[in-house]
Amino acid sequence: MKTLLQIQSSIFSKGGQSSQLAQRFVAAWRKSNPGGKVIVRDLAREPVPHLDAAIFGAFFAKREERTPEQQAVVDYSDSLIEELKRADVVVLGVPMYNFGIPSTLKAYFDHVARAGVTFRYTDKGSVGLLTGKKVYVFAARGGLYAGTPNETQTPYVRTFLAFLGMNDVEFVYAEGLAISEASKQQGLARARANIDALHEPELVAA
Ligand SMILES: Cc1cc2nc3c(=O)[nH]c(=O)nc-3n(C[C@H](O)[C@H](O)[C@H](O)COP(=O)(O)O)c2cc1C
Repeated sequence: MKTLLQIQSSIFSKGGQSSQLAQRFVAAWRKSNPGGKVIVRDLAREPVPHLDAAIFGAFFAKREERTPEQQAVVDYSDSLIEELKRADVVVLGVPMYNFGIPSTLKAYFDHVARAGVTFRYTDKGSVGLLTGKKVYVFAARGGLYAGTPNETQTPYVRTFLAFLGMNDVEFVYAEGLAISEASKQQGLARARANIDALHEPELVAA
């Protein structure tokens, strides 16, 4: 049984454009994977705390020396990582806010990037430990960025996911959503068409 983890980070929760595009993909995935399991993590409704020195300190405290508070921090991070580990397919809804990813998604990333747990350093550099996953990113933007130097989200998200071992990543963009109503409709229509055309080997095999 396949598991899909849907992480949405729009401040508008499931009403956000990025969430709705992700939802379109997930609905198609459900049809092709009738026995599949979908887990939704909504970072607007259930935000992950921002990283601070206490949290970072808890990650590095020796197991036997952790205070109860530090143990709670590690347990929470472990539960996010377990959820991610169990997913065969990861779906990310990623709005652009002030030229970057939502801070809630950054806080989530900060909780799942753990040395010795999701990546490790070797003589030859870092090795990601979350392998064998397919990731789909549904990115919504008010302006137009794809293919320009101001498109900082895609390389960042790609680099982060690869650092944890997730190299098979596909992006779908909905751009120009704040330019005009016509531009918004065009951007959404293009994104929906790209979602419908997504060719997933497991869907074909099913
Ligand atoms: C706080 C905030 C900041 C935004 N900053 C940008 C930006 O820097 N560049 C841009 O193209 N659009 C920006 N937008 C527009 C959003 O990218 C657009 O509304 C998109 O639909 C957001 O995704 P969502 O609907 O899934 O939340 C911003 C929107 C908000 C609410």
